Amino acid sequence: MKEQKLKELLEKMTLSEKIAQMVQIQGRLLNAGSEEAVTGPLGELNIDPAMLDNIGSVLNAEGAENLKRLQSEYAKRSAHGIPLLFMLDIINGYKTIFPIPLAQGCSWSPELLSAAAGAAAREAASSGLHVNFSPMVDVVRDARWGRVMETAGGEDPFLGELYAEAVVRGYQRGLSDTEGAMAACVKHFAGYGAAEAGREYNTVDITERRLRNEYLPPYKAAVDAGCEMVMTAFNIVDGIPMSANTHLMRDVLRGEWGFDGVVVSDYAAVRELIPHGAAENDADAAKKALLAGVDIDMGTNIYANNLESLVLGGEVPESLIDEAVLRILHLKNKLGLFESPFRGASEEQELKLHRCVEHLSLARETAARSCVLLKNDAGVLPLKPGTKIALIGPYANSELLCGMWSHVLGAPQGTVTLERGLLERLPDESLSSAPGCDILEECEQVPSAFQYKYPAPLSKPEEQWQKALDTAKQADVVVLALGEHCMQTGEGASRTDPRLPQKQRKLAREIAALGKKTVVVVFCGRPLDLSELSAEVDSLLIAWFPGTEGGHAVADILLGERSPVGRLNMSFPRAAGQCPVYYNHYSTGRPRQEKNRFTTGYSDCENEPLYPFGFGLSYTNFKYGGLILDKNVLTPNSTITLRVVVENVGERPGEETVQLYIRDICGSVVRPVKELRAFERVELQAGEKKVISFSITEQMLKFWTADMVFCAEPGRFEAMAGPNSENLLIEAFEYREE
Ligand code: BGC
Repeated sequence: MKEQKLKELLEKMTLSEKIAQMVQIQGRLLNAGSEEAVTGPLGELNIDPAMLDNIGSVLNAEGAENLKRLQSEYAKRSAHGIPLLFMLDIINGYKTIFPIPLAQGCSWSPELLSAAAGAAAREAASSGLHVNFSPMVDVVRDARWGRVMETAGGEDPFLGELYAEAVVRGYQRGLSDTEGAMAACVKHFAGYGAAEAGREYNTVDITERRLRNEYLPPYKAAVDAGCEMVMTAFNIVDGIPMSANTHLMRDVLRGEWGFDGVVVSDYAAVRELIPHGAAENDADAAKKALLAGVDIDMGTNIYANNLESLVLGGEVPESLIDEAVLRILHLKNKLGLFESPFRGASEEQELKLHRCVEHLSLARETAARSCVLLKNDAGVLPLKPGTKIALIGPYANSELLCGMWSHVLGAPQGTVTLERGLLERLPDESLSSAPGCDILEECEQVPSAFQYKYPAPLSKPEEQWQKALDTAKQADVVVLALGEHCMQTGEGASRTDPRLPQKQRKLAREIAALGKKTVVVVFCGRPLDLSELSAEVDSLLIAWFPGTEGGHAVADILLGERSPVGRLNMSFPRAAGQCPVYYNHYSTGRPRQEKNRFTTGYSDCENEPLYPFGFGLSYTNFKYGGLILDKNVLTPNSTITLRVVVENVGERPGEETVQLYIRDICGSVVRPVKELRAFERVELQAGEKKVISFSITEQMLKFWTADMVFCAEPGRFEAMAGPNSENLLIEAFEYREE
């Protein structure tokens, strides 16, 4: 449809029909229609049936057949034949489940994330979905916060930017129907990841400079990549809830960044302006959200029941409604819905695409590249052929590998467990398995979302425990498959003690005490405090929640079919008390000095995390040397070339991720102690050596200065290169304006 036609359509719509476009409800409420009795959840929603007939979008409905039916029935009721938009959270895959985003981010491979996003979009579009509430690009630095699992960039804005761009590109691909693309919705704008104390939905109090330097870049990268939608965050920023934050939404997002797509509130976030203490009542909340620039109210009747009287009473201009509705119509038009309301929805395509061989093999590749090897004493891994293996622990044969979002969508069909992955490769007699205990004890279970059910507890727990110990005693090597429960992670799952569940820690202690070679595979959705465990065992492999192909991917690594290549995108703390702990922190006036009480630090713990950002081992070893800069002065129109020699000094081929960090020694405002600015993945044969070079540019030095200007300031800098954020070679340089 031509732009002009959209405007003509808008002119034909009544005020109430326009407002209906700005309302989003749950799919299960849609079918009730105007004739049915308005009781139950629909009654609670309390939206006038005539408005319901013209609602603009729904969330949480899926399936080609179902969505085609919803769209057709709706078309009969609605006034102008404007098709519905269907939106869903497809966080790490739709039917083929990929590793959780935090895990995918450990691949340091934007191309891989883009490919995974493309596969997810193809599957979801065949089921009739149009918009994905993804990617979440909040910078996350506190392992206590359950939602860290959803951010591929982890604690780093630079990785966050790369991934935001890649994932948006992967979902949208020009939005072409024929390619099975869908619109992306970047979230949660802004700063949601900085919730105080890692407590879900908690206060965010952050200076505008820090927000711009560290938290906004990934959202901006998504917008620059053409992301069609933005979701507001639940939190406040500088005292103003994001769904009423005119400054960040109108001045920054739309004004400075030129975003002209649709802004949707997070679920019920407009109504939540009231308990926040930022709106007096429903009408006040609707007014503030509209003025701030929220186009769609997700999940409530606040817009439905208040905007009309606000316009008629002269409290908000109708032009704001028109602008919002035009943006929504525009998105529907871009998706081709006016011409083709069912768009890609097709039962045949669902059968063809869902968990197709191509997607499964991509999921296996992504899962393998997401695993991070944190410890491997005496080269216990990879397991040698002929080794007698005891696979022990509640994750030995568990299908709970897909992460919270996928399980609430009813995911784990076809999930390959670790036991299955190993058994496909090993002769039966070389593997014995025993769970030992449940993932969680009854008293530890977290209230779950939606219809999710916990697995039934093991019967005869004492016997199971003993069986695990006996099985371990018979083996040459014990592989312990341990982990958090997926419901302990994700939304609404903050933890003050991010360690493995107590029973599993006890199991690990007793197994380790047997004196066998012990490898632990950890399934988790956040960096855990593994201090105790890492001291007790030989090898530690973080598998995260690896998705449908998890068991295959982890088996590939354990058996040496593949070398681990993952690098941490979030620091693993030594203790919860360190959180938030992240590599790109500021300096203090009293940097840590050993045995000096009056320097920054703890009396009972080091400052550094147990495993730092960027860290990850391989099955070979790499040596760094020969760091050199081609000159020591950078100017706006020149670059410095940094070269560093990386050598594979082990006996197997391997892939290394060479990382470049920069430190601005002194600025008009205090600068982080280092910031990732580039990286390169390089494959090296045993004994091979390569020179890796990076170009250092003025762009890499820019930040929001004391005068709130985004620029590079003249002065001294350090360029650092190495295998992770702690182990770096350093050279100094200077930046001059000319
Ligand atoms: C979450 C969003 C999600 C929305 C819709 C909210 O509770 O914060 O990330 O997209 O629900 O499911």
